[in-house]
Amino acid sequence: MSDGTEEQVWRALGQVVVPGVMRSLVQMNLVRSIEVEDSRAKIALASTAIPAEHHGWLQGKVISAAREVPGVTDAIVAFAETKPKELNQIQQIVAVMSGKGGVGKSLVAGLLASSFAREGKDVGILDADITGPSIPKMFGLNVRPSGSETGILPISSKSGIEVMSMNLLLPSEDEAVIWRGPLMSKAITQFWEDVLWGKLDYLVIDLPPGTADAPLTVMQTVPLSGVIAVFTPQDLTEMIVKKAVKMARKMDVRVLGVIENMSYLLLPGTGEKLEVFGSSKGEEMAKASEAPLLGRLPIDPQLARLCDEGNIEKYRSDALSEIVENVVVALKGKE
Ligand SMILES: Nc1ncnc2c1ncn2[C@@H]1O[C@H](COP(=O)(O)OP(=O)(O)O)[C@@H](O)[C@H]1O
Ligand SMILES: [Mg+2]
Repeated sequence: MSDGTEEQVWRALGQVVVPGVMRSLVQMNLVRSIEVEDSRAKIALASTAIPAEHHGWLQGKVISAAREVPGVTDAIVAFAETKPKELNQIQQIVAVMSGKGGVGKSLVAGLLASSFAREGKDVGILDADITGPSIPKMFGLNVRPSGSETGILPISSKSGIEVMSMNLLLPSEDEAVIWRGPLMSKAITQFWEDVLWGKLDYLVIDLPPGTADAPLTVMQTVPLSGVIAVFTPQDLTEMIVKKAVKMARKMDVRVLGVIENMSYLLLPGTGEKLEVFGSSKGEEMAKASEAPLLGRLPIDPQLARLCDEGNIEKYRSDALSEIVENVVVALKGKE
């Protein structure tokens, strides 16, 4: 049998959606091998994170998809257990950090992911802010993730971004997580090792603020492509951002650059920039952190509203586009 047939079966399985996520078996990297012999397709699937009650259903879907391929009359499916970590293939992993909370770190993480997704990329968000998870709210998500003994499936956002957050796992959205460092580190490690992310172009990690155990765990556990530090003009000292950046350097993680959030207020109608918190500290901060200024985001009431409504994915602006471009350039650049 020609390789062409096998390739067509691969393509057919690219149309079979994994229950619980909006992405296909191929995108989730669950198809391990396909062999076609005497018009019979032998398909090996990883059953990772797929609840047992879905196996039969999935098997049926796969068999009928394979049979649609010319030259294939029959198909058999074998499931194998594989660890999520072995199936995850992620091109770029970007972590967003800040010296303190409330500067718009989650917002920047959410906007970056949304922008990448809009460009047609496969994107995930790992909300590592275990005690203050805010990503699901910005994306309007409150579905409980499914999974099996072998792994957890992320939740798909409206535009198909894979999201994993402690918030999705808590009994109630308002539940506070009061955990000590080691437990928090364990949760983050699990989000990395036990979640089936599949094949992604970008994974954006929303780090907890500051330089405590949790961001350290991420830097030690996850092979980051780089970090971005967010600050606001209210950050009176450069120290707080510098400390975060220094920590990344110490951990041998590339610093892609800094972003000034709430940099100015765009006056409605006129387009005039009002620097509410005083003049921009962008260049100063960039210099102090020895990293490029990736851009400045304005205080935008429309953005605040979209976040409250769970519609962050709808937000676009020139300032955001410029930041995303600069992030992509920084990721390409050599250290
Ligand atoms: N540029 C902005 N324009 C309007 N609202 C913003 C902006 N940046 C942040 N906010 C709002 O401020 C709050 C805090 O932002 P968030 O990203 O959750 O901070 P952090 O993750 O750093 O703690 C959010 O409710 C968000 O909607
Ligand atoms: Mg946050």
